[in-house]
Amino acid sequence: MSPAAQAESTRQLILQGLDGRHVVLVGLMGAGKTAMGRVIASRLGLPFIDSDDEIEAASTMTIPELFENYGEGEFRDLERRVIARLLGERQRVISLGGGAFMSAETREAIAAHGFSLWIDADLDLLFSRVSRKPGRPLLQNRDPKGTLARLMEQRYPVYGKADLRVKSEELSRDAMAGKMIEAMADHFVAAEKQNA
Ligand code: S3P
Repeated sequence: MSPAAQAESTRQLILQGLDGRHVVLVGLMGAGKTAMGRVIASRLGLPFIDSDDEIEAASTMTIPELFENYGEGEFRDLERRVIARLLGERQRVISLGGGAFMSAETREAIAAHGFSLWIDADLDLLFSRVSRKPGRPLLQNRDPKGTLARLMEQRYPVYGKADLRVKSEELSRDAMAGKMIEAMADHFVAAEKQNA
């Protein structure tokens, strides 16, 4: 089979496994949810959306402004509502803000309408990435690396509830997206075998 035909057959296999559900990318700040989401969406031929961008559009404020003016609690309420709305819309690849999957309500809605994929990255990789793009409200303190480590401890057991986990590596964007696509395809092949 030519590489193009192989890619198309993998795409069809994944779309069949998704059965209309969204692909929902989960992970800590710096895991690469948005960058990977864009590439995966284009490979699957699905539209892409980032929940933080939608929150900013809905509130006409930036995420740091929302935290500053209304606090984290209000931000989380808005985040929950925006994600519930996105999950009710047409099929897409959705990248979530790092804290969104911590809401039990959001996890339930994702289980009903999406396929969740956790991009699992280690501390040094996350920290090197977030250091390149400052401005995240939760990391505006004297020990952002320690904060990330604590968030990993709190969140990784919950991220572990995602349908699939892919370990992030220092690969090119395309190679990492390829790894995620392969992992999804393998997951759906295994699920089909189990159901047969
Ligand atoms: C947050 C992650 C951010 C953004 C907000 C809170 C978190 O999104 O939603 O700053 O709680 O981890 P990214 O994960 O896209 O950086």
